[in-house]
Amino acid sequence: MQPVETGSNATSTMARTPQRIGVPRECFPGEKRVATVPEVVAKLVKLGFSVAVESGAGDGASFSDDTYRAEGAVIVPNAAELWATSDIVFKVRPPSADEVALVRPGMTLIGFIWPAQHPELMAQLAAAKATVLAIDALPRTLSRAQKMDALTSMAGVSGYRAVVEAANAFGRFFNGQITAAGKVPPAKVFIAGAGVAGLAAIGTAASLGAIVRANDTRAEVADQVVSLGGEFVKVDFEEEGSGGGGYAKVMSEGFQKAQREMYAQQAREVDIIITTALIPGKPAPKLITAEMVQSMKPGSVIVDMAAEQGGNCELTEPGQAVVKHGVTIVGYTDLASRLARQSSTLYGTNLFRLSEELCKTKDGVINVNMEDDAIRGLTVIKDGDITWPAPPLKQAAPPAAKPAAAPVAEKKGGHGHGSSAPLPAQTLTILFAVAAVAFWFVGTYAPAAFLGHFTVFVLACFIGNMVVWNVTPALHTPLMSVTNAISSIIAIGALVQIAPPEAGLSGRPDGLIFWLAFAATVLTAVNMFGGFAVTRRMLAMFRK
Ligand code: NAI
Repeated sequence: MQPVETGSNATSTMARTPQRIGVPRECFPGEKRVATVPEVVAKLVKLGFSVAVESGAGDGASFSDDTYRAEGAVIVPNAAELWATSDIVFKVRPPSADEVALVRPGMTLIGFIWPAQHPELMAQLAAAKATVLAIDALPRTLSRAQKMDALTSMAGVSGYRAVVEAANAFGRFFNGQITAAGKVPPAKVFIAGAGVAGLAAIGTAASLGAIVRANDTRAEVADQVVSLGGEFVKVDFEEEGSGGGGYAKVMSEGFQKAQREMYAQQAREVDIIITTALIPGKPAPKLITAEMVQSMKPGSVIVDMAAEQGGNCELTEPGQAVVKHGVTIVGYTDLASRLARQSSTLYGTNLFRLSEELCKTKDGVINVNMEDDAIRGLTVIKDGDITWPAPPLKQAAPPAAKPAAAPVAEKKGGHGHGSSAPLPAQTLTILFAVAAVAFWFVGTYAPAAFLGHFTVFVLACFIGNMVVWNVTPALHTPLMSVTNAISSIIAIGALVQIAPPEAGLSGRPDGLIFWLAFAATVLTAVNMFGGFAVTRRMLAMFRK
């Protein structure tokens, strides 16, 4: 079923005429990914768009022109025709100079742009009066945005591929074996940084049978490391490394020294090191020194995923695999492209999810709604005006992230962000005095029964507050931990209410209270078990 051709001029931008999405062949040397795949084409066509793909665009990822055609795409012979006839262009890499010259006013470009690193490109695209959506600028803390999070998809694929590269360069099995010819010990793998890529690497290396250890400055990831079959190695220094939003912060000198000592010991013990440590907007922290490389056993392997940001290892050469002191150091910067079929499928799906958000009317016409937090975040140019960087999110999710432990630790390290500063002593004293007077007033004039209830209410608020905010944030969404804590409190309260009088927990509940408590129990059960199911699915993404 071929979609209707929209013609080779710009008439397709007229009101409610379905728009054409164009997918060019990536022209960056060695790039094998493609911005959409045949199964996604079919879904885009269902959304009302027509889809054009440049001939050969999917070759690097093993998708032939015919497979795109079979799902309803039009194949166009070259880039010039594709850009001239498309209203929206899906790309992977930022556009090259030749591609920028093909951008037409009013068209929409979607792909990786990295606006901070490419100010000139931004100026050129703005001058071309285009609208540009940088998928790398998506606000990742919005849970609604997770389905569009291409950075996460690409990091997951790359973490997997990093282990495959390590296995390729390593001259032994990963798993331990006892054979007639002798005993083979399992390989020991150390992963530095347990973010998205690190967790994918941990799961992959563990499933191959290696002994996996990992370290991260954010203590909250320790449980995830263990759940994927790794062992979390702590640095012998008390400092919390979370800088909010699931990202790390620069650590104190004392921490860094203790961490270097621990890494030096790991380097002597393990066979493979995979480094993924990253602090957004900063050069990669140098974690593996030349001496550590020298101390590794001959035949060992380092895969430095942060090579593009300067590398976590001092001896990394970006884009190359080199052998130094008998250790192979892999600094490839195109790991996702080395698994092109998989990464293109995930990336294409991310862009399809974005298209759904942009085209809620399902009539093949997008609406770049700047009132929508997710869309606002990734729109870096709107009709020729640079709109990057987006203002901070209104409902900043992360501040809830570090309720109890972080502020104390941050003060120690001298890197406090001041986001959750405690009230000054004077204000606290006044507040207490006012509360005491109010309480005296209530105690003197209110009926005795009210005072009893009021005391219980105040204590309940206090205990509830302590219980909720002292929950250790686990997983990527601290919000999930907090909502589960609230659900637990509701569940306990509701169960106390519906318990039979013989249980001695409450009086005889009247009909309305009983049914309200019953409904609360059912709803919290749905929330809690749903939460566990979602968590399981998230962790399953990293297993096997
Ligand atoms: P992420 O932000 O999810 O994870 C980075 C982790 O490093 C965080 O958990 C952070 O807490 C940790 N970290 C920061 N400083 C640390 C330190 N001093 N010691 C220990 N841990 C520290 O990032 P993601 O998405 O996992 O990416 C990891 C790296 O891989 C990045 O440098 C990224 O650019 C790179 N990457 C490379 C690719 C390639 O082809 N080579 C492809 C995709 C990603």
